Amino acid sequence: MSAPTRSHLSDRAAGVRQSAVRDVFDIAMDPSLVSLAGGNPWLSGLPLEELGAAAARLVAQEGTTSLQYGPGQGTERMRQAACTVMAADGLPGADPDLVVVTPGSQAAIDTACRAFANPGDVVVVEDPTFVGALTSFTTWQLDAVATPTDEHGLVPAALDATLTRLRSEGRRVAFLYTIPSFANPSGLLLPEDRRDEVAEMCARHDVLIVEDNPYGQIAFDGAPLAPIAARHRERTVYLGTMSKIFSPGVRVGWALVPAALKREFYLCAESAFIHASTTSQMLATAFVEEFDWQGHVREVTGLYRARARALQTAVDEHWRPGFEYTAPRGGFFLWGRLPPGVDTVELMRAGIEAGAVFVPGAAFTPVEGMHSTLRLAYSFVDEDTLVEGVRRLAPVVQAAVESAERRRPTPSPLSRKAP
Ligand SMILES: Cc1ncc(COP(=O)(O)O)c(C=O)c1O
Repeated sequence: MSAPTRSHLSDRAAGVRQSAVRDVFDIAMDPSLVSLAGGNPWLSGLPLEELGAAAARLVAQEGTTSLQYGPGQGTERMRQAACTVMAADGLPGADPDLVVVTPGSQAAIDTACRAFANPGDVVVVEDPTFVGALTSFTTWQLDAVATPTDEHGLVPAALDATLTRLRSEGRRVAFLYTIPSFANPSGLLLPEDRRDEVAEMCARHDVLIVEDNPYGQIAFDGAPLAPIAARHRERTVYLGTMSKIFSPGVRVGWALVPAALKREFYLCAESAFIHASTTSQMLATAFVEEFDWQGHVREVTGLYRARARALQTAVDEHWRPGFEYTAPRGGFFLWGRLPPGVDTVELMRAGIEAGAVFVPGAAFTPVEGMHSTLRLAYSFVDEDTLVEGVRRLAPVVQAAVESAERRRPTPSPLSRKAP
């Protein structure tokens, strides 16, 4: 029998490409490189011995439950723990009965596509947006349509125009996918008044919101801003995760779903993965119930703040002029821009030769073309290593900026303004 060929692939699988980011993550494992690529949380501050004892207890004493199938919607205690975490996100009073536990929020994004979107539908996204969500949208054969943002994130009036245009074109909009707090990759924080305006705009156009909030508690100056779901629960599917405040390896996240949609959402989730790992849910529950988890979040937030500042100082010293960025106010990422004409995919290749790696902006946008943006992650690398990475990349950045300047056409005398 001959080997299978691409003709055996479904249209949706044939359309999926390994993203530039995954390529970079594979390369970033090379220990000789400084990686400013991966948004990994820093785990060494966790109380590992005590967590180990909790994990041992879960198997030795509670193994007949922890190693068994569990409820499809997630264990009752994990759903309660999710409500505790959401209260700290600024979303108090969530009903555990409306929580569906998933293997990380990536699986919740995928379940949202499964539950709310038909092939060919539109998902409206901010540009840039999370690459894992873009991949899910491609897999579900959805069109990710970018709506304009400014230095504060989504622009409500532009969102209105985007939704009006899509309606006039007869497109079905499955949902708006948004990361209002310390977004991946932009780091932007959507102001409070805009959160309400975005929700009101979506209500006016009868569009559902999928609000993804892994970084809300990683706030460098002050308490987290209340999520959109806090005041607009009926229109919003809110996604939370243990990945950035505890561990991504446990693969525990969740969706808080409006009552009218919960049953179908949960059945769609069950059809994909039955339920999130019982053992993982019990360990994540133990972290919330038995440990000073908020103390841990405070500690890592302080660490990420210091790392973000060190990274800013380093790029100010080594990459200016030419490199512009938005100073992060929380989260894991610094998003920056080089002059037009610099291709950061090319820059990344040259950077790897120079001993450091970052993710080019093209990975995070549904818009084709050459991009001069890039994402630097500061969450996982200590301050000295961050500075070393920036230093290694400095000559490459400078060469790319100079080459773009040389190629830029000089304005003709006729187009020059009179003095
Ligand atoms: C915005 C965003 N959403 C979802 C995820 C996926 O997280 P999880 O580990 O919960 O699946 C990430 C991970 O980087 C993210 O940045």
